[in-house]
Amino acid sequence: MHCWFGAEENGRQQTCRLVRTFWLLCSERGASVLHLWVRNVMAERQMAVGIVGYGHLGQYLVEQILAEGEKVGLHLAFVWNRNLERLRSSVPEELILEQLSNFPDRSADVIVEVCHPHIVKEFGEMFLAHAQFLVGSPSALSDPQLNRQLRQAAEHHRRTLYIPSGALWGGQDIQRLDHSGFLKGLSVRMSKHPSCFRLVGDLHRDWTEGEGRRVLFKGTVADLCPLAPNNVNTMAAAAIAAESLGFDGVTGELVSDTGLSDYHMVELEVTGVNGFSVTTVRRNPAQLGAVTGSATYKSFWSSLLVCRGHGGRVYLC
Ligand SMILES: NC(=O)c1ccc[n+]([C@@H]2O[C@H](COP(=O)([O-])OP(=O)(O)OC[C@H]3O[C@@H](n4cnc5c(N)ncnc54)[C@H](O)[C@@H]3O)[C@@H](O)[C@H]2O)c1
Repeated sequence: MHCWFGAEENGRQQTCRLVRTFWLLCSERGASVLHLWVRNVMAERQMAVGIVGYGHLGQYLVEQILAEGEKVGLHLAFVWNRNLERLRSSVPEELILEQLSNFPDRSADVIVEVCHPHIVKEFGEMFLAHAQFLVGSPSALSDPQLNRQLRQAAEHHRRTLYIPSGALWGGQDIQRLDHSGFLKGLSVRMSKHPSCFRLVGDLHRDWTEGEGRRVLFKGTVADLCPLAPNNVNTMAAAAIAAESLGFDGVTGELVSDTGLSDYHMVELEVTGVNGFSVTTVRRNPAQLGAVTGSATYKSFWSSLLVCRGHGGRVYLC
């Protein structure tokens, strides 16, 4: 009997403690205690980041890590760029990696590619053998063989191949719809000022200011990626989210529009079973000639904060 009452008393004390903790967490002071605790836990799990490429995105990420990294548990393991001179004046000497093939010496926990699909092809598998890999140029995955190799490498080494959402809106919703078996179709139209395109092959044509709107391509994302590898990463991320459709099943349309001098536009149309549909229009402020819209930088930073290991798979972040 005595024991039973004792157990009841203990139970009551525990309930009181739980209620007190809950109340504390709900209060303003509780929220700041929780925030501090999360920050400390994050800082304890310091992640070393290797940045591959020092163009617009690479420079932004390096600056962010140097300025804010400590707060969010990130520090630089190395920075690589094919032109080393661009690094010398702004990156501490000890962080400069001269030969990319020597990246394993720097023991990065996560490697971020922000230069060109060629580098994904040449080094992607090796990166995954040593670190989590955030692939900034997912258009590279339109090559079915490379796509397969990277997925296999992620699984084999139990490391995550991260795909940043970039300018894609609702990627995780597309993924959920796809996983539930309800996704039927997906098309993505990207419209930009012609000075913002880096096109190869037949798509590269002369343009004149004031010419207006011109459809440059409409077809599968698989066919488009090799023609505009730097401009259609958003479509590539969409094709990865819509796994059952894939690069061959997602439609991509590329539009040149001299009227779009202030922003890039991404229009998405998702269709599902029983007449389900979603249409989104995203306007991403961008300077004339900029390949990357300004909101995409913040989006990349948020994606990097997620890269702490999600097992041997592809993960949209
Ligand atoms: N996922 C997305 O949503 C998204 C958004 C914007 C840009 N990107 C991609 O990220 C990458 C970087 O974008 P950015 O705006 O910083 O571009 P950027 O042109 O400013 O910089 C690219 C850098 O990579 C280097 N580079 C180019 N080709 C190379 C090659 N073949 N080998 C080695 N280095 C090479 C350049 O010298 C430069 O330093 C590009 O591939 C771009 O397409 C992806």
